[in-house]
Amino acid sequence: MEVVIADEHKLAQLAADAIERLLRTETAPVLGLATGSSPLRIYDELAARHERQGLSFAHAQAFMLDEYVGIAADHPERYRNVIDTEIATRVDFAEEAVHGPDGSAEDLAAASAGYEQKIAEAGGIDLQILGIGTDGHIAFNEPGSSLASRTRVKSLTYQTRVDNARFFDGDVDQVPSLCLTQGLGTIMEARHLVLVATGGGKAEAVHQMIEGPVSAMWPATVLQMHPHVTVLVDDAAASRLQLGDYYRHAFENKPDWQHL
Ligand code: F6R
Repeated sequence: MEVVIADEHKLAQLAADAIERLLRTETAPVLGLATGSSPLRIYDELAARHERQGLSFAHAQAFMLDEYVGIAADHPERYRNVIDTEIATRVDFAEEAVHGPDGSAEDLAAASAGYEQKIAEAGGIDLQILGIGTDGHIAFNEPGSSLASRTRVKSLTYQTRVDNARFFDGDVDQVPSLCLTQGLGTIMEARHLVLVATGGGKAEAVHQMIEGPVSAMWPATVLQMHPHVTVLVDDAAASRLQLGDYYRHAFENKPDWQHL
């Protein structure tokens, strides 16, 4: 696991550099997109590179991590709509190239299995952007999730609903309590995982993810078992790391040829 501690601007640049490299070198790149606040600067940076430098997504596909169940199709906080607003419509993805789990399906189990199949048919995900919840969830794999789980229905914890109430006029009762989410086993199959976390509210989850024992109580700890993970954190999110000085030293002395 590589840990990079830097300011938010630099973190977004680094993530965008990795995505740009993928888009420029692969003929059919597959991106994994996260929702929430954490990736927004990355999406701004990608949209700017598309606008200013012609960075193209026309040959790429993208898969979202998760979707609320029981939210109106036109609700601005439906994750599909958020992804359209924050990134999909700001760049030049081909029509139908951005996929998300169908939280409105009548048969959610079939929709989950179908989503897994779509990812497999695309050849798997090359680079997956992730955020982390204050309770250590990635996608919506809440504490207690099987470390081998696949896309399925999950109940959100009350803490996650409180955390997300800021997107729903501060009203926790408006935050759906069910979702469809890629499983931890699904996420672990992506070839490069890039997790971004900022702010002191994430500090304990970040510490557990990187330095704690692997446990379903902190689902993000499963990333310790993945061969290629980049964790991008600001000073506040890094504030509980025991080996913070070492991570800083390692990144500062990294050879130029070694990308994220
Ligand atoms: C969103 C997702 C979640 C968020 C996490 C952090 O698609 O999968 O795991 O990444 O809840 O949310 P923010 O970034 O809003 O703090």
